[in-house]
Amino acid sequence: LADDGSRLWLKYDLIKNKNVQSAYAKYNSIIIPSKKTPTIEKALEELQIGFKGLLGKNLTNNSKNNTTGGIKLEITNKEELTKDSPEDSFAIIVQKDNLTITSKTETGVLYGVFELLRNIQTEKIITKNIVSSPKVKLRMLNHWDNANGTVERGYAGSSIWKWNELPFRIDPRYITYARANASLGINATSINNVNASSRFLTAEYLEKIKAVADVLRPYGIKVFISVNFRSPRTLGGLKTSDPLDTDVRKWWIEKTKEIHQYIPDFGGYLVKANSEGEPGPQDYGRTHADGANMLAEAMKPYNGIVIWRAFVYNADPNGDRFKEGYEQFKPLDGKFDPKVIVQVKNGPIDFMPREPFHPMFGSFPKTKLGIEFQITQEYLGQSTHLTYLAPMFRECLDTDTYANGKGSTVSKVIDGSLYNSQMSLMAGVANTGSDANWCGHPFNQANWYAFGRLAWNHELSSEDIAKEWIGMTLTNNNNAKEKINAIMQKSLPTYIKYTYPLGLHHMMGEGHHYGPEPWLTKAARPDWTSIYYHRADSIGLGFDRTGKVSNAIKLYSKEIIDTWGNPDKCDLNYLLWFHHIPWSKKLNTGNSLWEELCYRYYSGVEETKNLQKEWNEMKPYIDKETYASVMARLKIQEKEAIWWRDSCVLYFKEFSKMPIPNNLILPN
Ligand code: GCU
Repeated sequence: LADDGSRLWLKYDLIKNKNVQSAYAKYNSIIIPSKKTPTIEKALEELQIGFKGLLGKNLTNNSKNNTTGGIKLEITNKEELTKDSPEDSFAIIVQKDNLTITSKTETGVLYGVFELLRNIQTEKIITKNIVSSPKVKLRMLNHWDNANGTVERGYAGSSIWKWNELPFRIDPRYITYARANASLGINATSINNVNASSRFLTAEYLEKIKAVADVLRPYGIKVFISVNFRSPRTLGGLKTSDPLDTDVRKWWIEKTKEIHQYIPDFGGYLVKANSEGEPGPQDYGRTHADGANMLAEAMKPYNGIVIWRAFVYNADPNGDRFKEGYEQFKPLDGKFDPKVIVQVKNGPIDFMPREPFHPMFGSFPKTKLGIEFQITQEYLGQSTHLTYLAPMFRECLDTDTYANGKGSTVSKVIDGSLYNSQMSLMAGVANTGSDANWCGHPFNQANWYAFGRLAWNHELSSEDIAKEWIGMTLTNNNNAKEKINAIMQKSLPTYIKYTYPLGLHHMMGEGHHYGPEPWLTKAARPDWTSIYYHRADSIGLGFDRTGKVSNAIKLYSKEIIDTWGNPDKCDLNYLLWFHHIPWSKKLNTGNSLWEELCYRYYSGVEETKNLQKEWNEMKPYIDKETYASVMARLKIQEKEAIWWRDSCVLYFKEFSKMPIPNNLILPN
């Protein structure tokens, strides 16, 4: 049978490796805690499905404690898990004839089960104990799904949530979704678009959301709702939605109470306010803190929280959008209620293929900051181009902010360790849809997978994550695994070469955000044109953010200003983010800017040809359908890489007035 990708990475196909088969052959039963909760039932069920599929073994449910060949699921304080280990940490303890999966929580036990199955599925024999703890507390997907079934920036079909059928019909996909997320440790999901419809707060929809929450709960996943700030007016019939108005506050208190009647463990609110035309507290002369704290007040009797997004900008042709989030929020540092997390995109503009880290990270010691990555590939080839995003997530997380001296990486800001915060958040804008394979491009599943794994442990390498995913999804042949991993690791640098080399950004076609439009001079908002960002002229290319046009570099610490702020020391990957570089200036590659730009655009296209050759070699290892789907997409990718290259090079040539070098040494 062809593989349609619908099982994601939870395939559990029979392992052919004899050593692996025999290493796990001794296990024949599962011993569960005396209190069989819904989550423990799911853990039991998953182990049984996994063993049946992977090893062809039926594990019985055994109540005896001291059997040989037992896998014991246990909720206790084992010494492997120190008293202050984070919630949902787990240990897999290998004894002579038995194995114990232990955690302080039932969700931790479920995570341990998935860890065991992942090891078997990737043909690893566990000989030593495994102890694993999440680094970030809230590991969350953000769906940009609408009530009418469309998905904003979704490239894999319509929404997975069937609002017209809920609460009566539970699509079996909700369960696969829950299992896939739990297998990664994802423990929260906001189910609707941040450009939110008030409809999600009506009783009609709360009943539907409750049905989803009931499915996700046993898998340890909490549901959040994106809210429209104007809801007191649209739903409540109030004259205002002013966060300092008593009736408005009362309305939110009542609404929050009502939500908890449907969903007692409600995760909380996610809010996009005063951003891209969405309503917010500034409509009433109030601040983001006033708005967020009003919702936090309504949430006070409960465990839920408020996630307030920092993605704001002013559409000022003379300003620098790079600085706006920072500048609007900086005066509010320390003013947010303890229940509020401010969610900041990884970079200062908008999920560009490569952005320097957002300058808010490391500059807000008195505010809990969460990070928002985009898993859906709005600016990254959508569902046609192969781009594996773990290297991008890692690049951001690993960058040093120097906020508290050397080693103050972005990951330490967001996991709470830098400021000793108990609340931490990593969110990813989901790439799921109703396509048979969930994510469009078969490799896009790897980005969901990588996001989840990094949210659990941001120290995992992008190579190890890729190899796990390949083993679980495509093939466990070691040679093929290495080669596919190499394809994945190269994919993002290749994409950046033929789209946005050297730190160029925001030159995509208006509206669809897919192909190139470097010549875009007019857009609905002045900071949505391309020329606002690349600033090509007869002298050179790039946005000077070191003082001449904008002083945005000043938002970073001294160590960063010393490197990124200096055109001779700046990492070439970020060069045009911060500098307007003359066309003929020699870079440290030995090429002039113009030559280097052409070199990158042209070699990027050549690399797309190589990706096809390399993928072709993988044919014997991959099921037919997936092989063909990826190959066809790689061909489109080459065609569109040429589209990007020619659009950008020919457009910039009008400014550089230099010929395309004919001596470029390109990869073959
Ligand atoms: C981008 C994207 C929008 C989205 C926005 C956001 O601008 O194009 O569709 O709503 O980000 O993150 O809020």
